[in-house]
Amino acid sequence: MTETLRCALETKFPLRMNEKGIFRILCVSDFHAPCGRRWDPRLKKALDALVDACLPDLVFIAGDLTHDDEGVGSEKLLREYIADIMAHTEELGIAWAHIPGNHDRETGIPPHVFSAFSHCLSVRGDEKLSGYGTYLLPVWPHDGCRENGPVCCVWAFDTHTGLGRYSESLGLPPEWDLNLPKMHTGFSHDDGVHFNQTAWYWELSAEMEALYGRKIPGVMFMHRPPTEMYLVGKNPTMTGMTGEIREEIGAADINTGLFAAAYERGDIRAIISGHDHINTCGGTYMGIFLAEDGGLGYDVYGDDDLRGGRVIEFSAANPGDIRTWHLHVQDCLPGGGEK
Ligand SMILES: [Fe+2]
Repeated sequence: MTETLRCALETKFPLRMNEKGIFRILCVSDFHAPCGRRWDPRLKKALDALVDACLPDLVFIAGDLTHDDEGVGSEKLLREYIADIMAHTEELGIAWAHIPGNHDRETGIPPHVFSAFSHCLSVRGDEKLSGYGTYLLPVWPHDGCRENGPVCCVWAFDTHTGLGRYSESLGLPPEWDLNLPKMHTGFSHDDGVHFNQTAWYWELSAEMEALYGRKIPGVMFMHRPPTEMYLVGKNPTMTGMTGEIREEIGAADINTGLFAAAYERGDIRAIISGHDHINTCGGTYMGIFLAEDGGLGYDVYGDDDLRGGRVIEFSAANPGDIRTWHLHVQDCLPGGGEK
C-alpha cells in the first residue's frame, strides 16, 4: 500500500456501516452565517430537524458555512457558531465533516476550530493538493474488519475558496481568464476542482481496486457543482431529473476532468454539490447521479419550500446501488417550519 493511500485511509475515528448494514449521509450546505452578528436561530432548528428525521451516520456540510472573507468575525464567535449549530449532532454522537465553499476563506474559518470537535472528521487532506479539504472518508464494515477494504467511500473535494476566478487561485495572470460571451453557465471562469485533486482521486481509486480486488463504490461531495451538473439541468427528461431549478446552475465553467475520471474509474455513484441555494435538482448522467442539495441558511436568500438536504444511503448488501432523496425542512418541522 502506498503511503498516500495509507494516510488517506486513516481518519480520526473510523466510520462504519451501522448495525442495519446501512450508511446514511445527510448533505447540507450554504448556511452563510453573517460577519459580526448572531446567525439566524432557525438554522439550528432546521438542521436538528433534518438530523432527527433521517438519523444519518454522517452529516456532511458542503461549504459556505460563512458569508464573508472574515468568516463570522472572530475565532471565538466561529467556535460558538459551530458549537451551537452542531450541538445536537455532537450530542447524538453522529460523525460530521465539512469542506469550504467559495465564501469561506481559510483565514475566516480556521481548520483547527473544526478539528477540536470530537465527532468532526474534517481534515486538510494531502498537503500536495491545492486548497483545503480534499480528503477521503472510508466506510468500513460494521465489525470494523479492514481486510477486505472499505464498503464504500466518501470523497470530499475543495472547489476553492476564492471568489470565483480560476486564475486567482492558481496564481496565474487574470487576463488568462478569457471571458467569452457564450459560456455554459454565465459564471465564466468560476473555479472548481483542480487537476491535481482529480489525479489524487484517480490514483487512490485505482490502487484500492488493485488492493481489494473490486471497485469501492463512492460518493463525491463538493461545494461548486461540476460542469456536468449543467447538462442534467438542460436535459431533465433524459437524465430522469427530479427536484427544482430556480436559479442558474453555478457550475465550474472550466472542466478539469473530475467527472470524466469518475466515469472511467466506474466507482462513483453520486456527485453532490451545494452553492446554488434554490436548486434541489438531481439526475443521472452517464451512470452517475448528480444533485444539488439546496441551501439551508436563513441569513441568505433561499426558498422555504426547498430548504433541506440531500440524503445518500449505501447498503452493505449492495453498496453500488445507492438510495437518495432530498429531505425538506418543511416536512421535518412541526407546522412546516418557521417563517
Ligand atoms: Fe457558494
